[in-house]
Formats: sequence, C-alpha cells, structure tokens
Amino acid sequence: MASHIVLVTLACVALSSSAAADLRVRCNPDATASALMGDALRHDMSRHGHARFAARELASTDATISAPTRNDGPEYLMNLSIGTPPVAFPAIIDTGSNVIMAQCAPCGGFDTAPLYNPSSSSTFSDRPCDSSLRVGFCDAADGGAANDTTPGCPCTRNQTYAEGWAFFTMAMETFTFGSTSGDDQEVPVAGMAFGCVNDSSGGWGSASGMVGLGRGNLSLVKQLGASRFSYCLTAFHDGNSTSTLRMGPSAAIDDTSAQSTPFVPNPNLGTLSTHYYLNLTGISVGDKSLSIPADAFSLSADGSSGGLIIDSGWTTTTLVDVAYQQVRAEIVSLVTLPPIDEPQAGLELCFNASQESTSTMTDMTFHFDGEDMVLPAESYMYLSSGSEWCLRMNNASAEDGSVLGNYQQQNIHFLFDLDNEMLSFAPADCSTI
Ligand SMILES: *[C@@H]1O[C@H](CO)[C@@H](O)[C@H](O)[C@H]1NC(C)=O
Ligand SMILES: *[C@@H]1O[C@H](CO)[C@@H](O)[C@H](O)[C@H]1NC(C)=O
Ligand SMILES: *[C@@H]1O[C@H](CO)[C@@H](O)[C@H](O)[C@H]1NC(C)=O
Ligand SMILES: *[C@@H]1O[C@H](CO)[C@@H](O)[C@H](O)[C@H]1NC(C)=O
Ligand SMILES: *[C@@H]1O[C@H](CO)[C@@H](O)[C@H](O)[C@H]1NC(C)=O
Ligand SMILES: *[C@@H]1O[C@H](CO)[C@@H](O)[C@H](O)[C@H]1NC(C)=O
Ligand SMILES: *[C@@H]1O[C@H](CO)[C@@H](O)[C@H](O)[C@H]1NC(C)=O
Ligand SMILES: *[C@@H]1O[C@H](CO)[C@@H](O)[C@H](O)[C@H]1NC(C)=O
Ligand SMILES: *[C@@H]1O[C@H](CO)[C@@H](O)[C@H](O)[C@H]1NC(C)=O
Repeated sequence: MASHIVLVTLACVALSSSAAADLRVRCNPDATASALMGDALRHDMSRHGHARFAARELASTDATISAPTRNDGPEYLMNLSIGTPPVAFPAIIDTGSNVIMAQCAPCGGFDTAPLYNPSSSSTFSDRPCDSSLRVGFCDAADGGAANDTTPGCPCTRNQTYAEGWAFFTMAMETFTFGSTSGDDQEVPVAGMAFGCVNDSSGGWGSASGMVGLGRGNLSLVKQLGASRFSYCLTAFHDGNSTSTLRMGPSAAIDDTSAQSTPFVPNPNLGTLSTHYYLNLTGISVGDKSLSIPADAFSLSADGSSGGLIIDSGWTTTTLVDVAYQQVRAEIVSLVTLPPIDEPQAGLELCFNASQESTSTMTDMTFHFDGEDMVLPAESYMYLSSGSEWCLRMNNASAEDGSVLGNYQQQNIHFLFDLDNEMLSFAPADCSTI
C-alpha cells in the first residue's frame, strides 16, 4: 500500500505544479485578529458530525508517541514538530474536529507562533489528487456547510467555524513527536495528511495550528492508527506547568479509582461521527440533585441535534437551556455577592466580587451513566480580571446540544479507549503527569 501512496503523490506533484506557486501568494491583509481563538474554534458545520471522509489507507506506526501539552489560555496546546528539518509546531488539541491544520508561510505569521514554510521542507508534498481523499474530503457537503470547495486539483477546503474560517490545501508532511520510551527519543511519522492554511479570518495566538483528535479518518488519532489516547489538562490558570498527551499502548490512567463511561454512538452515523458523545444523566450541586429532564442530554433519533460531546478545543461548557437554568438558579441561591447585569466576561452569570472576596463553593457533580465526575469550584467558577466572578458555563439551544469544555476538564486525567468505546477519567494533578 505504501507504493500506491507514492505513485499517487507523484502524479499529484506533476498535476499541481501551479498549486505550489499558489501557496506563495499574499495572504488576507485583514487577518490580524485572533478571531479563531477560544470558543470561536467550535465548528458550526461538523458539530453534529456529518463529515464523511472516503476510505483510504492511512499511515500507521507501532510506536507510542507522546507530546508535552500546556495551557495557552483559553486553549491547550500540544508540542510537536512539522517538516524536515523539523520546525516547532505548537498546536491546539481539539477532540471536536478531525483535521490537522498548519499555518503555512508566507501566509500566516499574524501571530506570535512559529511559522512553517513548506518550500523549506524536503518532506512537503501536495496531496490534492488522491481521488478518494478529494471526493471524501473536499467535495462532500459537510453537515450543511457552504459548498465552497474547489473541484479538481489542488484539493482545497474552506473550513468554517462558529466565528471564523481557515482556507487550506490538503498536503502531506512528516510530523515529529516525542516518545515515551526515552525522553530524548523523537519519533518522526512520515506521510501525514494535513491542511496547509494559506488564508484565514484570524490567527491562532501562539499556536501554529490545530490538531484534530476526533473520530474522522484524517484526525491525528486515526492517521496514527492509535486505538487509545490520554491527556490531562493542567490547571486553567497555570500557564507554566506541562503535562503529557499519549497515543498508543502507553496511554493509560495509573489510578485504580478511575471511572469509565461508554461513548454514546451517534444513531445515524455511529462511530463515523466526528464527536465523542457522552451519556450525561444528571447534575448535582453539593448534595442537591437538580431537576433536569431525563432526556435533556439525549441525542435526537436521527443524531443531528442534542447530545453532549467532550471537546478539548472548546473552553466553556455549554448546557442546553433546560439544564443550564437549573444550574444557574442553584448558583444564584448559593452566592451572596450581587449579580452583574451585563457581564464583560462573555459569560451569562457573573457576580460583583470587587468589594468582598468570593464565596467558598461546594463541588458540582456531572453524573455519567453510573459514574460521577466531580468538579471542584475552580473548575466551574471563574474570576475574570475585571473582578467579575462568573459561572463558567453558558446555555445553548436544545438543537445545538451540550459541550463539556476544557475549563471543566482541567486536572482530570482522561483516557479515550476507542477499541472499547469507553472514556475513563480520574481526578489528578495534571502537572505531575
Ligand atoms: C490559497 O490557495 C488557493 C489554492 O491554491 C488559492 O486559490 C488562493 O488564492 C490562495 N489564497 C491566498 C490568500 O493566498
Ligand atoms: C474511514 O476509513 C474506513 C476504511 O478505511 C472507512 O470504512 C470509513 O467509512 C472511513 N470513515 C469515515 C468517517 O469516512
Ligand atoms: C515546545 O517546543 C519548543 C521548540 O522545540 C520548545 O522551545 C518548548 O520548550 C516546548 N514546550 C514544551 C511545553 O515542551
Ligand atoms: C457542490 O459543487 C459541485 C461542483 O460545482 C456540484 O457538482 C455539487 O452538486 C455541489 N454540491 C452541493 C451539495 O451543492
Ligand atoms: C470562507 O468562508 C467564509 C464564510 O462563508 C467566507 O466569509 C470567506 O470569504 C471564505 N474564504 C475564502 C478564502 O474563500
Ligand atoms: C509562571 O512562572 C513565573 C515565574 O515563576 C511567574 O512569574 C508567572 O506568574 C507564572 N505564570 C503563570 C501563568 O502561572
Ligand atoms: C461592583 O461593585 C462596585 C462597588 O459596589 C461598584 O463600584 C461597581 O460599579 C460594580 N461593578 C459592576 C460591573 O456592577
Ligand atoms: C444512559 O444511561 C442511562 C442510565 O444508565 C441508561 O438508562 C440509558 O439507556 C443510557 N443512554 C444511552 C443512549 O446509552
Ligand atoms: C440563555 O439564557 C438567557 C437568560 O438566562 C436567555 O435570554 C437566552 O434566551 C438563553 N439562550 C438559549 C439558547 O436558550
């Protein structure tokens, strides 16, 4: 199968010599704001997982790989390298999407991130003409997104988000990871498909791109053939500590108290969905079990709306309004500080903490299909710089469904076991993992 891939790649290079030149044209001069940062990262189009990528043979490796991760507020980044010679590639970890995207020189560079230049790498190749990839990825209408792809070569895509977009050409590169077998041992993985971004509505702050860890065939997980991965997001306010993301056999939670809950298959797409859905059955604040309808977090019968996904690339947990209002009312009843009418923090419920110090809050518990995830106050309350003390959750429509964001995931060690379709988790001091 490797020789097949080489032949396809050579054909593509011959057909698309003008595409390489296109990569060197001027970028969007307005692209200065980090419009893609934070919750804007969330896709509007693939939220409900209609992305279908055509079958193709993917690169795989037996090596377990690892990458240091750190909080870049509000996103968590993993550290890997791209190209030959390798260039640092700090990238947002996103369990809610499927593609690896890198800002490519001469475009990009609007931020502080290292900029990768495909023309300086000996292992870059366009990957536009693999017919299965093009049909599956570039031509497919994707969850109702605009049909804005370019037919033929090169294979390009305008990936849209809630508040932004990135335009890229599908290409191939070598990515280099750390290894768990020895700290200095690096593991290069050749022939990984990625999106070479040459235009976007904004940058990624200090990230050079994004790494999708979703279920789709182009995600890092699937391209590596990894059947499991684990991560542990360090405390949200701690920008100095690091943790380790592991893919492959060494991904594990070394804690006998770890709990497990099954992923919920999307009724329509099954495990072909992008997303990792969980079965949230209720929420408690302290000892009080909130009266949330039993079906509040259920996926609709056709799999197109509702549900709750776990998303490392989305910061603030959103709950469908019927659940959110219960949580909100309980928090209002517990906090004695005055609420703020129009909070600046971009959150729905905030209190004025400029005079008094914040209250001591009880734990909140998310009840998953038999197992409990305990969120201490620092994982659901948030003190913004303007002394607004806020519930770090927002509400969403029943159709949009709910998202377990990275603020709520801090200091919990997660294992995504894809063979067994289980999520395991245990509270942890992630700075030690
Ligand atoms: C990005 O690449 C595409 C395809 O090669 C090209 O049509 C487009 O003009 C490029 N955009 C920018 C801003 O360079
Ligand atoms: C991924 O590839 C496999 C086989 O290579 C195929 O059966 C499956 O449908 C693909 N998944 C998606 C989401 O396209
Ligand atoms: C990420 O890689 C860069 C460049 O190799 C290095 O300077 C930085 O310290 C690394 N960060 C972490 C968290 O390992
Ligand atoms: C997308 O565009 C292609 C080429 O113009 C067309 O053949 C196809 O029908 C369109 N698909 C949708 C869903 O509009
Ligand atoms: C990508 O799509 C967005 C939203 O539809 C649009 O505003 C933007 O101009 C498109 N970008 C390119 C390069 O086509
Ligand atoms: C990181 O550590 C430095 C030096 O100890 C400290 O000044 C800084 O406040 C820390 N930053 C964060 C975000 O924790
Ligand atoms: C917070 O309280 C202080 C003191 O009472 C007041 O001056 C300030 O305007 C309040 N801020 C908001 C956003 O309500
Ligand atoms: C969710 O968990 C509840 C309680 O264990 C169970 O009754 C229900 O069937 C589960 N739903 C799904 C979709 O797995
Ligand atoms: C979210 O809650 C606010 C007020 O609590 C309400 O005005 C708004 O309509 C709600 N949004 C959704 C999507 O339910």
